[in-house]
This record gives sequence, C-alpha cells and structure tokens, in this order.
Amino acid sequence: MCGIVGYIGKQKASPILLEGLKRLEYRGYDSAGMAIADGENNFLVKAVGRVANLENKIGEKKILGTVGIAHTRWATHGKPSDQNSHPHQDCTGKISLVHNGIIENYRELKKELQAKGHKFKSETDSEVAAHLIEEFNKKMNFETAVLETLKKIKGTYGLAIINREEPDKIIVARNGSPLVIGVGAGEYVIASDVSAIIRHTPQVIYLDDGEVAVIKKDGHQIKTINNEAKNKKITKLDWDLERAEKQGYPHFMLKEIFDQPASVEDAIRGRMLLAEGLAKLGGLQTVSEKLRKIEKIIIVSCGTSYHAGLVGEYMIEEYAGIPVEVEYASEFRYRKPIINSRTAVIAISQSGETADTLAAIREAKEKGALTLGIVNVVGSTIARETDAGVYNHAGPEIGVASTKAFTSQLSILVLLTLTLGRQRDMSLVTGQRIIKELRRIPKLIQSILDEKDQIKKIAKKYHGYEDFLYLGRKYNFPIAFEGALKIKEISYVHAEGYATGEMKHGPIALIDKNFPSVFLAPKDSVYEKTISGMQEIKARGGKIIAIATKGDKEIAKIADDVIYIPKTLEMLTPLLAVVPLQLLAYYVGTAKGFDVDKPRNLAKSVTVE
Ligand code: G6P
Repeated sequence: MCGIVGYIGKQKASPILLEGLKRLEYRGYDSAGMAIADGENNFLVKAVGRVANLENKIGEKKILGTVGIAHTRWATHGKPSDQNSHPHQDCTGKISLVHNGIIENYRELKKELQAKGHKFKSETDSEVAAHLIEEFNKKMNFETAVLETLKKIKGTYGLAIINREEPDKIIVARNGSPLVIGVGAGEYVIASDVSAIIRHTPQVIYLDDGEVAVIKKDGHQIKTINNEAKNKKITKLDWDLERAEKQGYPHFMLKEIFDQPASVEDAIRGRMLLAEGLAKLGGLQTVSEKLRKIEKIIIVSCGTSYHAGLVGEYMIEEYAGIPVEVEYASEFRYRKPIINSRTAVIAISQSGETADTLAAIREAKEKGALTLGIVNVVGSTIARETDAGVYNHAGPEIGVASTKAFTSQLSILVLLTLTLGRQRDMSLVTGQRIIKELRRIPKLIQSILDEKDQIKKIAKKYHGYEDFLYLGRKYNFPIAFEGALKIKEISYVHAEGYATGEMKHGPIALIDKNFPSVFLAPKDSVYEKTISGMQEIKARGGKIIAIATKGDKEIAKIADDVIYIPKTLEMLTPLLAVVPLQLLAYYVGTAKGFDVDKPRNLAKSVTVE
C-alpha cells in the first residue's frame, strides 16, 4: 500500500528511482512522483496513474542529482491527482517527503499550521509532515526538526525525507509501515520492500517501529525518535532478481500460476522425514514443546491468506484433533477472543506487512498467546514479530491477485498439520501417506497447467457473463471463496463463493441461464452430496462448470463443461482444485482486456487498517 523508494550515492538517482517504482507499483498505482535534491538541480515531478506516465513526463529531461526520493500511491486521503501525489513539500519547497501510512491527527496539525501561515497544496494527511518539519526547522537543525515532527505525529508511517539545503542525506523513519535500507558500496537504496533493492545490493537493514535513520552516501546512523543511537545488524537477502522478472510470460500473474510446481516444491523441500512420517520445520523448533501442549488454534489473516487458513482449519481439526478458529484479522481484535497460554495464534500473510494481520498478532501476544507466522517475505514485520514461524520460500509474488503464495501456504499448513498431528494421535502410516502424496503435488499441478488451452477455451465461452456462483463443500468450500475472489479481483464480475449445502438457502434464487455456477466436485467423501447440489442448479436452467476428478465420466452428463484434476488425498485436493480457478480468472480477465497484474482499486500489500 504505497511504495517508497529513495537513493543516495554516486549514480544519477532518477533512473534508479524509476526502476524501483516499477518494482513497487504493485503496492499502489493511483499516481507516482519523484523529488531530486542536489542543491543545484532541484526537481519535482508527479503524474496521475501508472509509473509509466511519470516516466513519460520525465522524458528526456536531464536530471543530474544523485539524491532523491519517489513514491507510487494507493490513495487514502484525497483522490488521485497531481496535487495529492507525493512527494509533498513545505511552503518553501526546501523539504520534500514521501509517506506510506496514515497520519491520524493530521486535521488538528493542519489547522495549527494553517494558523501559523502555512499554505497547503493537497488534501492529503502526508503534507502536514513536510510543514511541521519546516516549522520546527525554523528553531532547530533539520535532523532534530524531523525527530520533533515524528513525536507529534500519531498514526503509521514509512517516511523518506530530503532537504534541498542539505543534499548529502536522506532521513527515513518507520512506524507501522515497512522500510528497508539497502546498503551498497558508497550508495544506499531505501524502499518499502526488498524488491526495489535486490538489483543493487543483497545487504539490507530492516528498520523497526520507532526508528529513524540518517543516511549519507558513505555511512548511516540509526536512532530512536528520542535520539538514542541504535546498532542494527545487516541481513543478507537470498532472493535473486530473476525470480522477480516475468521470464517471458505476458503477466506476472500467469508466470506465478505457472511457478506453482516449483514454489510448492520449494515450500516442502527438505521439510519432510518419510521414514518417521514427520515434518521438519526448522522455524518451529524453538517452540516445539509449547506446540505439544497447545489446546486451541486461531488463524488470523486477510484475503487469499484467509482462505488458506480455512483449509488449514479442516486439515488440523481432522488430522491433529485441535480446535481451530479462522478469523478475518480485521475482525479479530474487535471481538473478545478467548486466549490463554495454550492458544496458538497463527498469522498467514504473503507480504508479512498486512496492517490488520499485524495488529491481530500484536493483540494475541498481548493476551499471552503463542504467536506463529506463515509468511513469504523474509524479514517482514510479521515474520519478525511472531514468536516463531515458517517461511513459504515462494519467491517474490508481484501479481496483485495472490496465486503461488496461496498454494505454498496450503503446503505449509499440511506440514504444520503433520507436525501437530504426529505430536498427538496421528499414526506413522498416516504421516507417511500424507508425505508421499504431498511430494506428488508439484507434478500433479504441472499436469493441470498443461491443460491450460482447454481452460482458456472455457474462459472465452463464459467471459461475457456478469455473475458467477462458486460452490464447494468440506475441503473445497474455501476454494469456492478463493475462486470467486480471483475472478472478482481481476475480471470485475460479480462472483459469490458459497458452501454447496448452503446454496439452497438463498443463492439458488439467483440462478437462471445467465448465472453460471462453478462447482468444486472432486471424488471425495462429499461427492454424492455435491452432485445433488449440481442437479438442483441444473433443474433450474443454470449452466455448470465442474472441477472434477480425472476419469469421472458421469459428471460430464450433468455439467456443461468439465475441467479435470488428478486424484489425490482429500485433504490435498484444494492444492489442485484452485489451479484451474486461477487460470479461469486469468483468462476471463485478459479476454476482457484488463490489466490483471494491477486490478483497479486494489493493492498487493495493504498496510493501512
Ligand atoms: C491484499 C491482496 C490479496 C492478499 C491480501 C492479504 O488484499 O490484494 O491478494 O491476499 O491482501 O495479504 P497478505 O500479504 O497478508 O497475504
């Protein structure tokens, strides 16, 4: 949610900032802007819409400065416009800053500053920070003025600030919104996440809440907002740039769908012991004894990660016998959750930065729960704040609609189920059966991807419909949600996910020949009941697309179109069933001509509550 990038060093800043913005564009793409300060060639440019518009506006202009900041925006306060785009400046244009987060007390601060004569140009909350720095800077030096400003601000921020009169430094600060400092040789790249940094250096420092860094090209100082010095360690990233590129695919989303055989493999590799029927999750080792005593699990997450949590609930309850609740992170802390030291609260988050999920984990910690994370982005806030956790190792996911992160989350939930189950009543044979079958999943996903042309044909046939009902039962009930979410996100059609059995209590009233249903109908323990549901839709003239198990000829007699998936263990069917639904959404979205990597109004990483 909003991307920030900054550069200080020996090279021209503007191309580096533009390239960084492109990598961060998935965080928001309502508008973009850049400020360069080097004393002589001060420069500020903003453009509504994509980073490409900013690039066009910059055109052939010679921008020589080697210090600068840039921003790609997901609008919260104020509509997307040039005025509301970052960087924002003080009255004199001396101070420029970019901000990610929300300054909650900006109205009061704005009033106070206006009374002192400050003139505001935008409707944003962020601009107050620039004017506050200007105000303090009248009485104290720039660095102290920034610290004093941060003390006055209530809310969340990732901030990067430059000063035309002191072009030898960038000041960055973090409270609740991510900020990473890339440490190069005689240069620094700062950004909201590592995808804008890996090209320049693998050495990074993750800023924590309440920390401020003063960065010069040949050194940095980190302190608290109370001016106490801090010593932070430099971490070496293990992501390579190639994994973040499209590699010949027309969209990141398609590439990421096709990454899944490899990303599931990466999630499970080296994490299973077949002979013992056990999972080996290094990140949980320190809490292994606590896990043995856990009596209740609460999974907190948002969006696609929430759907993974729902599948986890079925797995853990069936195979480990531990009661599980799955809660939207945004609701969790407004309830009065019953938590004690025998409760594990698990955050599932691709980005590790989702504000609601982070807030839920903090609340759980406060209440004494054991907190765990299933997180993809290494070093992200949730990964660092949980007591223990497991990384997905899915590599960067750039497409805004989550795909490979989902199947890697499911894979890890299988491993977690194994861990918890084998600590309790799960037999060696069951453990081994799950491991053997999980190992086959990457190959089975590949076999579904090989049928992409058939799915594309079905998408073409249905892409003109405006409503869809997605139905699933038991393990595939959450997949109905996920399938509906995918097509909503990138095709802008109305789709509802429902439990097959619940369909007759309402949604069936919607069904007619213009309202097709997508049925999750693998040959599992609820197959017969699913078929009854299908007949009910059929009887009302509704069209049916079925996701069914290879070899099921009968289903073709009821459904209008069938997409087959291979047979596997019932608990693992979601890992296969979701793949055709991702492809269906992708092909419907592209058939309609939409930019599926950057759907309107959405952002990849939602760092505001
Ligand atoms: C946003 C994204 C979704 C994602 C959700 C949770 O809404 O558009 O794709 O599932 O956030 O994100 P997280 O990073 O916590 O998994």
